[in-house]
Amino acid sequence: MNNNAILAPSLLSADFADLGGVIKMIENGGGKWVHIDVMDGVFVPQITYGQPVMKCIRPLTELVFDVHLMTVHPENMIESFRNAGADYITFHWEAAVHHHRIVQQIHECGAKAGISIVPSTPVAALECILPYVDLVLVMTVNPGFGGQKLIPDCVDKIALLKKIREQHGYNYKISVDGGVNNKTLPLVLDAGVDVAVSGSSFFSGELKWS
Ligand code: DX5
Ligand code: ZN
Repeated sequence: MNNNAILAPSLLSADFADLGGVIKMIENGGGKWVHIDVMDGVFVPQITYGQPVMKCIRPLTELVFDVHLMTVHPENMIESFRNAGADYITFHWEAAVHHHRIVQQIHECGAKAGISIVPSTPVAALECILPYVDLVLVMTVNPGFGGQKLIPDCVDKIALLKKIREQHGYNYKISVDGGVNNKTLPLVLDAGVDVAVSGSSFFSGELKWS
């Protein structure tokens, strides 16, 4: 089991009426990254929050801001999310055409670049972009909502990405997002994940992280 994994609580399941308290809860609960799910109502059905909300919480903490863009045209919002305090900017492979250009754009503004895949996208689709990214976010639920059940088949992608990283000497972190709770956490840690995102399980107080 990878005990050095990073916990990244997802704001999606937090109390938006008390974001200051939420940041404290993440810090006290062992979170090292704040996972910020940006939804545009097009790539996924809901709309969440964006740059102005991020700007308000950025001064409250030194934690890493891990922005997960579930939006179409991610290329239009890279610089503004960096200016709002994003450390990692992750976009969806399915939402873009010029993946390489977007990764360059993220790096040029000084952030780390991540790529994410939905459950129906295979790791093989990422072949040409893996040498250039700092993070691969494996979605273990269909994006758009918190509180869904982890799809077990998706966990195999973590081990495959780990193997590819070793074979080629790549540098990306492997992150997992969706349905991580006390029952599924050992599965994703065993598969070799570096970052575990948790929304509903963390904020309900169910998740035991040590
Ligand atoms: C879903 C989001 C997730 C979500 C995870 O589309 O990307 O980050 O917050 O929530 P849980 O941990 O409840 O599955
Ligand atoms: Zn997410």
